[in-house]
Amino acid sequence: MSRRRVSSTKISKRLSFFGLVVVASICIFFLVFNQRTSNYIEHRFQSPVQIYRNNLTQMEIHEVIEMQKKILERELEDYNYPLDKTGLNVSSFDDLMMEKGGRPMRSIILATWRSGSTFLGDVLQAHPANFYHYEPLLDFGITQVRGSPMSHRAIKNINALFNCQYHKLESYLYFGRTHPWVFNHNTQLWRQCQSHKRICWNSDFVTKFCRLFPFQSMKLVRLRLKVAEFLLKQKKLGVRMVLLVRDPRGLLQSRKHRDWCPKSPDCSEPARVCADLVSDYEAAVNYKKKYPNNFMVVRYEDFSLDPYTNTENLYKFYGLDLHKKVKYFLDTHTSRDFGGVSSTFRNSKTAPFHWRNDLAFEEVEEIQSVCSNAMRLWGYQLALNHTHQKEFHPLMDYQLEL
Ligand SMILES: *[C@@H]1O[C@H](CO)[C@@H](O)[C@H](O)[C@H]1NC(C)=O
Ligand SMILES: *[C@@H]1O[C@H](CO)[C@@H](O)[C@H](O)[C@H]1NC(C)=O
Ligand SMILES: *[C@@H]1O[C@H](CO)[C@@H](O)[C@H](O)[C@H]1NC(C)=O
Repeated sequence: MSRRRVSSTKISKRLSFFGLVVVASICIFFLVFNQRTSNYIEHRFQSPVQIYRNNLTQMEIHEVIEMQKKILERELEDYNYPLDKTGLNVSSFDDLMMEKGGRPMRSIILATWRSGSTFLGDVLQAHPANFYHYEPLLDFGITQVRGSPMSHRAIKNINALFNCQYHKLESYLYFGRTHPWVFNHNTQLWRQCQSHKRICWNSDFVTKFCRLFPFQSMKLVRLRLKVAEFLLKQKKLGVRMVLLVRDPRGLLQSRKHRDWCPKSPDCSEPARVCADLVSDYEAAVNYKKKYPNNFMVVRYEDFSLDPYTNTENLYKFYGLDLHKKVKYFLDTHTSRDFGGVSSTFRNSKTAPFHWRNDLAFEEVEEIQSVCSNAMRLWGYQLALNHTHQKEFHPLMDYQLEL
């Protein structure tokens, strides 16, 4: 009897030792891999370790949010709050901060691939108090949203982003973990993500972070203008939208050098590209009448020929004060031609017209044969022959009238 009792206490001691080892290993496992475990697992099995881990996460989120609040206050110290045309009474930071019940100034660039939207987006992004929703439809692939059924998900996502409701965007965040460009164009957010990798794709964090920013910009290259009216209709959002247009010959020349484009007809077929330009024109004529203070058109070529004046106009339209960092961005990004193909460091006066030398006249003819209507509407002149193509100035005036 006594021998058995002794051995059973030995066994139970051994068992509890093993238990400790197991618990310790689990702890270490979770601490090491806490970044990778998904929210799903987290909600199903709440171990004490995870409660502790969640608390650490919350503490880190809190710390970054407080830090960013201070950065924004400093950046906006001598900011000139411009009078807003849409009835917003803006006199302080709080009026623009969702966190304090305010409404941010929301701006949109609606464009298509390779139409200079990265450059225009960066001009806005150069403002240190701007939160840049970069291409919210990235996970749609190389496709254009022209109507239902795709428009339903697009509208849902865009509304969630503009309202900083990232808990409605878990699949978008999930996509971002392996496609960092979902966030890395957003300078302010990406800076924090670099030093706080653990919370970067946490919906709670991004929601709180987003709600701090007084200026929120968005670039869309997959949504056609006729679908975008839901944004202008929602008066409480106060969205200001710019349609960015580019010569189809420039678009298609630039896209030839992207390996993701030729496979997709929405991107590479001249007839489709120009049908979109025509449909955008019709919607633009309509919106210009319906939403004169909230909608505007810019041709990439016009913008590039005079980036300073046009940036000032753009900022005025969006209701933004031109920050000194924006001027600095223009000084350093528009004069010389250096950097890679996707670079925004370029000579802005020649970049829009590269196609005249890069395309053979036969290619230009092929595009023009299906694009003459789109080109007439948007004021782009036809090239008549090989020599003419190399020398002529493609821009004419255009009028938003049907
Ligand atoms: C969780 O964090 C808060 C501070 O944010 C702290 O007051 C609290 O004691 C923590 N709770 C646990 C269980 O660690
Ligand atoms: C704007 O707000 C200020 C202070 O909050 C107030 O004095 C002023 O009357 C308001 N203006 C309008 C047009 O609502
Ligand atoms: C090309 O077109 C221009 C303008 O119409 C014309 O003056 C010129 O003679 C043409 N050149 C050739 C080689 O056909």
